[in-house]
Amino acid sequence: MLKVQDLDVRYGAVAAVKGISFEVAKGELVTVIGANGAGKSTTLNAVMGLVPLSGGEISLNGKSLARVPVENRIGMGMSYSPEGRRVFKTLSVLENLKAGGSTLAKSKTEARIATVMDRFPTLRERRNQDAGTLSGGEQQMLAIARALMTDPEFLILDEPSLGLAPKIVSQVFDIIAELREAGVTILLVEQNVKKSLAVADRAYVMELGLIVKSGPAHEMSDDPDIHDSYLGAAA
Ligand SMILES: Nc1ncnc2c1ncn2[C@@H]1O[C@H](COP(=O)(O)OP(=O)(O)O)[C@@H](O)[C@H]1O
Ligand SMILES: [Mg+2]
Repeated sequence: MLKVQDLDVRYGAVAAVKGISFEVAKGELVTVIGANGAGKSTTLNAVMGLVPLSGGEISLNGKSLARVPVENRIGMGMSYSPEGRRVFKTLSVLENLKAGGSTLAKSKTEARIATVMDRFPTLRERRNQDAGTLSGGEQQMLAIARALMTDPEFLILDEPSLGLAPKIVSQVFDIIAELREAGVTILLVEQNVKKSLAVADRAYVMELGLIVKSGPAHEMSDDPDIHDSYLGAAA
């Protein structure tokens, strides 16, 4: 579904992503792991069209995304939940969901909100509450729900479990697993390496703008290097 070839992204003199190539097949859950500053978010932003490429090619279902603006990528079935959740804090839960569905036909929005709320019952209970008053976990659920408003085929999640309590982290991963079961193709960036390898089909490891390792997720969790770097006592 997604094919990234020789992707380069620079911020002025900083080379954040240095010629990486990777793929995500239809129905796959692929995770990108790596330390802070490795270039994971930059990679996702490039895939979504939110930062310009300095080099390389990105295609979706065989179609180059080079000249496709963000809104049209959403129209092509892509959706994105950014790092740090970025819910609209002074808007209600309902308004956040409507914003996520702003590219939908008016007639479809209500039905989609109902479907999304079925998956996140807490959001239905809190629909008139400002997003800023929700707990961190609820805000993360809202961020995912907002990204689901367009019923995406391909969902990109950046650090959905960041800063959440362990119990909530498990709930977030349960949702991710459910979405995968429902057939959504997922590209997941995570700091929680153990849980992301447990839920993913394949994984890529990024270090300093490069992909240094890739493989089936279950093999990666048995890899001694991965174990030492990311799955030590702290994980
Ligand atoms: N807007 C920006 N301007 C300049 N440098 C940036 C910007 N965003 C990220 N960087 C740098 O690019 C590198 C990769 O960052 P990022 O993609 O956020 O990594 P990760 O998501 O893996 O933590 C880092 O060195 C970071 O400091
Ligand atoms: Mg990041």
